[in-house]
Amino acid sequence: MKKIVFVTTNENKVKELRELAGTKINVEHLNYDYPELQLDETEAVARESANWVRERGVVKEPFFLEDSGLFVRALNGFPGPFSAFVAEKIGNEGILKLLAGKEGEERRATFKTVVAFCESPSPETAPLLFVGTAEGKIAEKPRGEGGFGYDPIFEFEEGAGTSRTFAEMSRAEKNAVSHRGRAFGKLLDYLVDVEPSSRTKNRT
Ligand code: IMP
Repeated sequence: MKKIVFVTTNENKVKELRELAGTKINVEHLNYDYPELQLDETEAVARESANWVRERGVVKEPFFLEDSGLFVRALNGFPGPFSAFVAEKIGNEGILKLLAGKEGEERRATFKTVVAFCESPSPETAPLLFVGTAEGKIAEKPRGEGGFGYDPIFEFEEGAGTSRTFAEMSRAEKNAVSHRGRAFGKLLDYLVDVEPSSRTKNRT
């Protein structure tokens, strides 16, 4: 089975990824802390973080890392690439306060994950980027016990008038529709389908 290394300090992300990879790819976890870059695009954060890790030479095998962000429409895309900082400072309650009085479409939000994959240790080869998004709304109050981070306040619309937060879904249910599930699904397709010699393009 092919092996790739996932560089992250977030155990929840590892659990999601391992479940998605199933028996297709062996995902090895490297618990290595790289600086949270404050750049204004998730793509740039993922790419530059991957370059930073590669330059340190701490991983000898093909590796990937990912950066995710929550983009709230009524807040002009805030917290976006600053989601980790904002979660730490004001948390879900803070986001709900910022949206007090906003209703319906005004509560729309997008979750985005950018996976940056480094197949080669050479800095000449740019990391490949794989992007996944999930559309939803910010709930009126937190719901659910599962997941992590913003999951209790992110309502995913499932059609037929039902919308559960990601925290109300099982890991498999969230994975099937989530930003991370979609981005990582693209990386998996790429790894499983494409011969190494023809791997060149980003799949965004
Ligand atoms: P990062 O990708 O770890 O920088 O994530 C930014 C922030 O978004 C952190 O506070 C994470 O906890 C949160 N986050 C990332 N992915 C998810 C998710 O799938 N659900 C809920 N929160 C998430």
